[in-house]
Amino acid sequence: MSELHTPQAGDDRAPDIDVVALLMRQHGDIRNLFDEVEQSEGEERREAFRRLVRLLAVHETAEEEVVHPFVRRAVSGGEQVVEDRLAEEKAAKETLAALDGMDTDDPAFMPRLRELRTDVQQHARAEERYEFSHIRRSTDVTNLATMAKAVKAAEAMAPTRPHPGVQSGAANVALGPVAALMDRTKDAVRKAMGKH
Ligand SMILES: [Fe+2]
Ligand SMILES: [Fe+2]
Repeated sequence: MSELHTPQAGDDRAPDIDVVALLMRQHGDIRNLFDEVEQSEGEERREAFRRLVRLLAVHETAEEEVVHPFVRRAVSGGEQVVEDRLAEEKAAKETLAALDGMDTDDPAFMPRLRELRTDVQQHARAEERYEFSHIRRSTDVTNLATMAKAVKAAEAMAPTRPHPGVQSGAANVALGPVAALMDRTKDAVRKAMGKH
C-alpha cells in the first residue's frame, strides 16, 4: 500500500514561488490518486477516493479563484479560454458529486470513476496548454508568488490524512460535504490574495 501512496497535497516543502509549478504538481497528484483508487479495493479504495475528492475540490477551487480570473485579464483571448475551462469544470463537478454519494464498492462506481478521470484529464491538458503556458509569460515573479501563496492556502484547507491505524471514518466526517470544503477553500484563497 505505501508504495502506491501519493503524497498528501500540502506535504511538499517547496518554496511558494511559482504557481504554475504548484498546479502542475497537483495535476500529477490527481493522476496518481486516480491510479490508487483504481488499483485498490475495500477500505483502501474508500480512503484513496476521499483523498482524490479532497484534492480535486481544493485544486479546482483554487483555479477558479486564482488562475481563471488572471487569464481573463492578462491573456489575449482569455475570456473564451476561461469559459471553455469553466464548462469542463462544471461537468466534472457534477460527475464528482454523483460519485461522492456512492459506495466505492458499488458495481456502478468504477465506470463512473473512469468517466470522471477522462473528463478531468482532458480538462487538465487544456489548462496546461491554454492557460498555464501563458501565465509565466504574462506576469512577473512577484505575482507568480502571490498566486502560488493563494494555491498553498487552498491546500492547507484540506484536513490531514489519518495516521495508520486510525479509523478513516472519523476523517470522512471531519471532511464534511465537498461543497462545504469548497466554500472554506474559497475563503482561504481570497484571504491569501488580500481580498478580505
Ligand atoms: Fe481546473
Ligand atoms: Fe487543473
